[in-house]
Amino acid sequence: MELQSVKAGPVLGIETSCDETAVAVYDPGRGLVAHELFSQVDLHARYGGVVPELASRDHGQRLIPLVDAALKSAELKGPELAAVAYTAGPGLIGALLVGATTGVGLAMAWDLPALPVHHMEAHLLAPLLEADAPEFPFLALLVSGGHSMLVDVEDFGRYRILGETQDDAAGEAFDKVAKLLGLPYPGGPALAALADQGDPARFDLPRPMLKRPGLDFSFSGLKTAVMLKVKELSDEQPLNERDKRDLAAGFQQAVIDTLSGKSMRALESTGYSRLVVAGGVGANRQLRSSLREALERRGGSVYYPRIEFCTDNAAMVAYTGYRSLLAGRAPSGDVQARPRWPLDELQAANTGNESPRS
Ligand code: KG4
Ligand code: ZN
Repeated sequence: MELQSVKAGPVLGIETSCDETAVAVYDPGRGLVAHELFSQVDLHARYGGVVPELASRDHGQRLIPLVDAALKSAELKGPELAAVAYTAGPGLIGALLVGATTGVGLAMAWDLPALPVHHMEAHLLAPLLEADAPEFPFLALLVSGGHSMLVDVEDFGRYRILGETQDDAAGEAFDKVAKLLGLPYPGGPALAALADQGDPARFDLPRPMLKRPGLDFSFSGLKTAVMLKVKELSDEQPLNERDKRDLAAGFQQAVIDTLSGKSMRALESTGYSRLVVAGGVGANRQLRSSLREALERRGGSVYYPRIEFCTDNAAMVAYTGYRSLLAGRAPSGDVQARPRWPLDELQAANTGNESPRS
């Protein structure tokens, strides 16, 4: 499709990178006019984690009805849209392919451009959907089930990764520690709920890499420290409820101290006063309030998406698609699905010189 024929207008967004099937419409005149989501949590719960094959099949069944519902609530017909945006990666390959083939197919049928969207870029732009949206530039703390990173966001499409996790992502650590404590899937929110009732100071847990210079994270040592405590405490009798609560609280506090310490260091080095927190772990209420207080003390502001847009959703995909259209990113008729897709490779795509490879 020729760039000249691309018009700015309502964009349909599709998200199927993991275990949420979601569709939304962002209209530049009216804002977010539809957002539909079906969570597969119940489907995967009995397996204790996401089963990729089941996820793909379920996306295939849910997606088209959600597209219908989103268009209905946006009061639009497909051909009245300006583009179809879909998450092209990173994520589970089979799950991504469902959204990608559907997105490209609908775009072809409606004679619209199809826009492949980077899932992590969509997460970091999610706070721009809120009334008190941050201005560029800002520092982004992206903390999800698959990623933990600090990103210097100079402008739309200009991202410099300042630090990342060396091993587990923050959300992954929440999920693994939840499993150690015998909590049901999905672990992160269950662990957070338990932690809110516990004493964070009872167990002395490490703050990984906080004392070391640099902006990288590491969470696997913290997970191992919790595992050793669980072993020690359950040597003679099963872990009691108080132990579980206090371990959960100690773990959550250690993650928060680490994320907060590194974020403050990154604000120092970039000279920025705006911090954006996004991704599933950004839904953690204690993290939100700790960072808010830390920014107040420092003289800056912290921005979050509303809780439901911290975890996977299509509103952020539709919005990123709209921004891509405005920025003249090249649409592509190829079905793009990249299970691994480093965020800093977007720079090339933004110039329109190179579109992402599948
Ligand atoms: O962004 P997201 O929905 O999916 C990925 O792109 O990974 O993030 C999911 C992650 C999971 O690891 C989940 O346990 C974690 O976010 N999470 C939380 C909370 N809500 C979700 N972690 C801590 N506290 C929460 N309240
Ligand atoms: Zn995500």
